Amino acid sequence: MSTHIVPLLAFCICSWLFCVVASRARSRRYKLPPSVPGLPLIGNILQAPHDGQGPYLKRLGDKYGEMFTLRYGRATWVVLNSKRVVHELLEKRSAIYSSRPKLPMAQAIISRGHRMLLMEYGEAWRSQRRIMHGILGSNKRDIFRPFQETESKALLFHLLESPETWYSLLGRFSNSIIMSVVFGRRTTRNDSSLSEIYKVQEEFVPYMMPGASFVDAFPILANIPFLKGLQFWRRKGDALYERTKGVFQRPIDELRLRIQGGTQKPCFMTEFLASNAHSFSAEEVAFIGGTLIEAGTDTTRTSLLGLIAGTAMYPQWIHRARKELDSVCGPNAERLPTFDDRQDLPMIQAAVKESVRWRPANSQTGIPHCLIVDDEFEGYRFPAGTVFTWNNWGISLSSDFDEAERFNPDRFLGDDIDKVTKGHLGFGAGRRLCVGFGVAANNLFIAIARLVYCFDIEQDRVIPITVDKPFPLDADIEPYKVIIKPRSLAHRELIERECRSAALF
Ligand code: HEM
Repeated sequence: MSTHIVPLLAFCICSWLFCVVASRARSRRYKLPPSVPGLPLIGNILQAPHDGQGPYLKRLGDKYGEMFTLRYGRATWVVLNSKRVVHELLEKRSAIYSSRPKLPMAQAIISRGHRMLLMEYGEAWRSQRRIMHGILGSNKRDIFRPFQETESKALLFHLLESPETWYSLLGRFSNSIIMSVVFGRRTTRNDSSLSEIYKVQEEFVPYMMPGASFVDAFPILANIPFLKGLQFWRRKGDALYERTKGVFQRPIDELRLRIQGGTQKPCFMTEFLASNAHSFSAEEVAFIGGTLIEAGTDTTRTSLLGLIAGTAMYPQWIHRARKELDSVCGPNAERLPTFDDRQDLPMIQAAVKESVRWRPANSQTGIPHCLIVDDEFEGYRFPAGTVFTWNNWGISLSSDFDEAERFNPDRFLGDDIDKVTKGHLGFGAGRRLCVGFGVAANNLFIAIARLVYCFDIEQDRVIPITVDKPFPLDADIEPYKVIIKPRSLAHRELIERECRSAALF
């Protein structure tokens, strides 16, 4: 141990001197938005809360304005707090604001560089984005529809059978759609592979947030061989990587067994393995499949948590939505709404956007973008390598939205109703915009239309819903109390008639 102390001390002193000299030189050349005061050398790292990062950034935004700067050791983060500046920088200048920062913990250690979501702007990212686009792009969305139809029917039937498990049914619904398309198999209730995905994601997501790991502040620490023994973060990161790899590999191993047994249906992964497998390592293939599954599951689940809480707390929008639904499907539960009804259901289309805006959970602090060249904006001069994130929770609850606290789909009625990414930042911005937004919007549309047509959603009188913190990413926790019951006997009979077979498999 003592052999480590001398080089460690020398290293700390040299780093400190280097940082002081470098930051003096930088502050002369560059001009950043107001800084949140922090400690010498480490900056704001000790201020980042473990929980509720979204509300924390909102409080800072309320104090420091449209843009502010946080420092985590060598890393500089600029937080964008209005739709205007996100549009000006991440969208209009997306050619230079679309890389990802070096996050040694989240990307190099936990993902071994394979998570496409965190890949730097470059050829590896482009090639994976093309693959994702190939399966999720607008010309392929019809592939998802039969699965969205079936899984939303299963959701209604399961809700009728066991309304007390409502929160876990939302996750099964979301996961089963993407599992069906990617791996050609449905997700059962209490599916162990789904709980494994939740667990690794719940641990991974916080590492994408500002100041999440000490090594992100001093990436050089991860590369110095004599410090390996002292890299206290590495043991945790390596363990999470091993678990993630296992969770992502498992559906591929199961698929291969089904192929051998002759029971596998054609799906994205059978096609991918047949045509592309030679271009990627086994681990890359596992992370491509895993990225699709993790990106496609929890985001949809937490948006539906928002829809249900928002509807129970602010039920006014339901009356107008039901008027549209009843005129399309009949006032006495004649039939379920379908995708073909979309143009006649603008309130449902608006509710899709509102459920993504209202209380973002998975990307409550945005997903960090990185600037690749020096840039100037409204008197500021940003160095290449500055990290920019949009304060997703804060902007969603800011004066950018009229009565932002309220769940109110009306705000999205109008010309852009068909453009699901417009008017809010739930799907991100610029060239890193969520590649699955069309699939996500269809998942939400069919689930919301059917839920609202068939069920009443009410607050529990004894335990009211509170939404001052993002919904927990632990999907096994009931996030709030709510009462979900069929609208009428006719609606119950409709579900029993039309949805039973989808739920029994
Ligand atoms: C309501 C559901 C969803 C929400 C709110 C959501 C949100 C997001 C956000 C905020 C980003 C980062 C954007 C940025 O950095 O600017 C993202 C990226 C991504 N999303 Fe989604 N997403 C959803 C559903 C989906 C689905 C269903 C899929 C695919 C099955 C998907 C696949 C991806 C992928 C692969 C990326 C990485 C894109 C890149 O880095 O280039 N997402 N999503």
